[in-house]
Amino acid sequence: MNKPRSFEKLWRKRFEKFATQAEDDAGIAGWSVTGLDARLRKFMEIWNDTPDLNKKIWLDAGCGAGTYTRFIAQQGVDIVGLDYSFPSIQKAKSKSDDSITWCVGDINKIPLKPHTFDGAICFGVTQALDNSGGAVQSLTKIIKPGGYVYIDALNDRCLPHICEQFTRRILNRPIHLRYENQRNLSDLMRHDGLTDIQIYWLPILPTRWYRYQWIVETRAAKWIWHHIPIFGQLLCHAFILCGKRPQDENNA
Ligand SMILES: C[S@@+](CC[C@H](N)C(=O)[O-])C[C@H]1O[C@@H](n2cnc3c(N)ncnc32)[C@H](O)[C@@H]1O
Repeated sequence: MNKPRSFEKLWRKRFEKFATQAEDDAGIAGWSVTGLDARLRKFMEIWNDTPDLNKKIWLDAGCGAGTYTRFIAQQGVDIVGLDYSFPSIQKAKSKSDDSITWCVGDINKIPLKPHTFDGAICFGVTQALDNSGGAVQSLTKIIKPGGYVYIDALNDRCLPHICEQFTRRILNRPIHLRYENQRNLSDLMRHDGLTDIQIYWLPILPTRWYRYQWIVETRAAKWIWHHIPIFGQLLCHAFILCGKRPQDENNA
């Protein structure tokens, strides 16, 4: 579906406005409170279940209010929070102690030294980009060999998203958010040299049904998302992909 040429610019303005007007993390980032809650819980689970991650210095690209940045800092990891929205960085800084470094910059051209970070997360950003190519490329560049990139996207195969896109097409309305195809994003990651791509499905119920969110987070539900991917594709609002930059890139 066609995106207006100013799609990224519109989103930049929106993010700056959210950050100027809101005080809470979800409001600053443009999430619903329940959506942010479910996303953060999933990331904490991934973080805690992956003890072999090198956890010295990480980057939170598109950090918004710094929710994940603070979580990672609390684990004793050095972290840089980067966002192109100056008001977001100001709010994030005001919510943290001095252990976090904040940086204003565009994810498509991260103004930091290549091969610096053990890992990078990029959450909530791809839906506001014209495409994910530039972000994947610059995230891969700033990772050390052996480091990891975690990037999320709104799932284009999720049934409600298919309906929404269909309705917009019929009504000839421009897209509001960009939905991503998991194959497309993993191909981009592979193209830039990331390997061992893994997917984590993110089922997120709308706020009005959030009291049932626990059901889609049970062990049984997680087993289904993981082992019968078609259910993940059709029912999960978003997904996170993780890729590793090989230690020895010549043998990758
Ligand atoms: C939906 S919010 C998510 C914030 C945070 N990662 C979270 O999940 O709570 C998206 C954030 O990405 C930032 N962002 C979007 N596009 C960006 C870009 N091209 N470069 C840097 N930051 C960007 C926005 O300013 C906003 O703060």
